[in-house]
Amino acid sequence: MTETGEHIDSILVSREEIAKRVMELGREISRDYAGSSLVLVGVLKGAVVFMADLMRQIKVPVQVDFMAVSSYGDATSSSGIVMINKDMDMDITARNVLLVEDIVDTGLTLRYIKSILSGRNPLDLKVCTMFDKPSRRRTDINPDYCGVVIPDKYVVGYGLDYKGLYRELPDLCILSAG
Ligand code: IMP
Ligand code: MG
Repeated sequence: MTETGEHIDSILVSREEIAKRVMELGREISRDYAGSSLVLVGVLKGAVVFMADLMRQIKVPVQVDFMAVSSYGDATSSSGIVMINKDMDMDITARNVLLVEDIVDTGLTLRYIKSILSGRNPLDLKVCTMFDKPSRRRTDINPDYCGVVIPDKYVVGYGLDYKGLYRELPDLCILSAG
């Protein structure tokens, strides 16, 4: 229990399961982009932990960049209005781009970032997310690569936060109120 009343309820996806899926995703991505190269674009801050693990499992040449976005709305629901706080630095014209996300929930953030990046004429633009909550989707956008599909629970750990906290937890945990 913390000052703000919430507590870590239980482990939903263990660090071992996460590591296994990241390795499998790396293998799949390496196979799909064999003979080519890739720009990984991580969405700050949540994707930092996944990005660090995933890039070391990819066997084709990668370059790495980041962008930071924020969504208007409270901590547990997305308004669909997204603002770019930090844009990426690289030119992605004619490059294979793989957007790296921590979690896809409503899909509104992903839809916005995809529309921005596709306007910059990449050769190819795909999405890899570690976690996916398809039951809450409000767009028809889906990830091309997904680590683990999870139920409609608010989760923290492995980069995901609640009010900026819990990103450092090695397992994906369920956060409960009170
Ligand atoms: P979306 O726009 O609703 O798909 O959600 C985008 C962002 O909301 C994600 O990239 C996360 O940063 C955050 N988010 C959604 N669900 C969770 C959760 O269960 N825990 C922590 N952050 C979440
Ligand atoms: Mg995020």
